[in-house]
Amino acid sequence: TTKGEMLYEGKAKRVYHTEHPDQYIVEYKDDATAFNGEKKGTITGKGQLNNAISTIFMEMLEKHNIPTHFISKLNDNEQLVKKVEIVLLEVVVRNIAAGSLAKRLGLAEGTVLPKAVVEFYYKDDDLGDPLINDSHIDVLELATPETVAQMAAYGRQINDILINYLKDRNVKLVDFKLEFGITPQGELLLADEISPDTCRFWDADTNEKLDKDRFRRDMGDVEEAYQEMLRRLGGVEV
Ligand code: C5P
Repeated sequence: TTKGEMLYEGKAKRVYHTEHPDQYIVEYKDDATAFNGEKKGTITGKGQLNNAISTIFMEMLEKHNIPTHFISKLNDNEQLVKKVEIVLLEVVVRNIAAGSLAKRLGLAEGTVLPKAVVEFYYKDDDLGDPLINDSHIDVLELATPETVAQMAAYGRQINDILINYLKDRNVKLVDFKLEFGITPQGELLLADEISPDTCRFWDADTNEKLDKDRFRRDMGDVEEAYQEMLRRLGGVEV
């Protein structure tokens, strides 16, 4: 596969056309941002680490019959994916209070939620990705009610699969963000990435953070935490 024209450049990835009209190449960058781009930095090796980690998660989810955009890992920083149109919604699933939920509801970080919480955020940088509900999604015509319901159902299913998978690796899944896309044929697929950039992972014994919160909060050892996650997932160290 050859890299064609760049279609899109985001904070952490670039997307390229290929000679195949239904396939894109995604390139993972070392750039890191937080707080809607207010905080910027570089995490050495992050592109390779997230490419490797997301590959492991996507291949595992495919085995559990979750349809994803993932086709193959091409090299250290790139993967081949199916072409989709990204739904402008972020699906966040939470098992333990942290981040914006802890703040919004006044819960102490680490409070175990009695059941998983599913939220939708409107993917809009200018608005700072606001939390929205089904009626907002409806009036903004971001997705049909059927698509929204399917995204929430996939979110809960993926949560169950990931919790189990990570439990065996001594990792607690605190929360995570998913994005979905629709193929030219109209199929809803899990898209984007699943990585320490998009999930909160805590060591099951010590609650040590093994994710991007180390960057957000200037805790240090960011690259080491991503390496540790890849190691626990059984990936080859990069
Ligand atoms: O910041 P907040 O607590 O709402 O984040 C919830 C989860 O979603 C975290 O795992 C975070 O890494 C992820 N997230 C993301 N991209 C965003 C917002 C949140 O990956 N734009």
